Amino acid sequence: MDTNYDLDSVIRKVPDFPKQGVLYYDITGILAVPEAFRYCIDRLEALSRGRNIDAIAAIEARGFVFAAPLAERLSLPLILVRKPGKLPNKTYKKRFDLEYGSDMVCVQEVDIVPGTNVLLVDDLIATGGTLQAAAAMFKEHGAHVEGFLGVIGLPFLDYEKNLEGHPVDVLQVYH
Ligand code: PRP
Repeated sequence: MDTNYDLDSVIRKVPDFPKQGVLYYDITGILAVPEAFRYCIDRLEALSRGRNIDAIAAIEARGFVFAAPLAERLSLPLILVRKPGKLPNKTYKKRFDLEYGSDMVCVQEVDIVPGTNVLLVDDLIATGGTLQAAAAMFKEHGAHVEGFLGVIGLPFLDYEKNLEGHPVDVLQVYH
């Protein structure tokens, strides 16, 4: 594994997206460079190995891109956490607050196995609200949250506080 890949050099920064005043950290620049993408999966794998994890849960949509190869490498089941109306089987749902309004995460009931340890994976962790809601949904239905993994972390948006109690690892931090 290349331990020193400069991820920042391929993360595209887009001012004023999706709205004025927001700097958007765009992972499509990572996906455009196979070496950078492989580096991310290598690092996520290294952070996951040796832990007591039974399944990987991936957050729609960009979280899927990183969680899927990770789950395959670790030979672990992959669980999709999706937005409402996307999953075909009976689902559990969890609503969470946004700055304005609210959003919802869903998971198929059949995919939560009580007593199992789940690692939740997303591309970017900002407020941590999405992962916090997903984690609550797993816990309410008997699974344990082993930790959180992200590619990009924005600690100035307070995810460390909102996700406290479980390990949180990210590959690239912006302050
Ligand atoms: C983004 C990102 C995370 C979430 C992080 O997803 O991919 O899932 O926001 O924000 P938070 O830590 O404040 O909850 P987005 O809703 O833009 O969806 P997408 O991945 O489908 O584009």
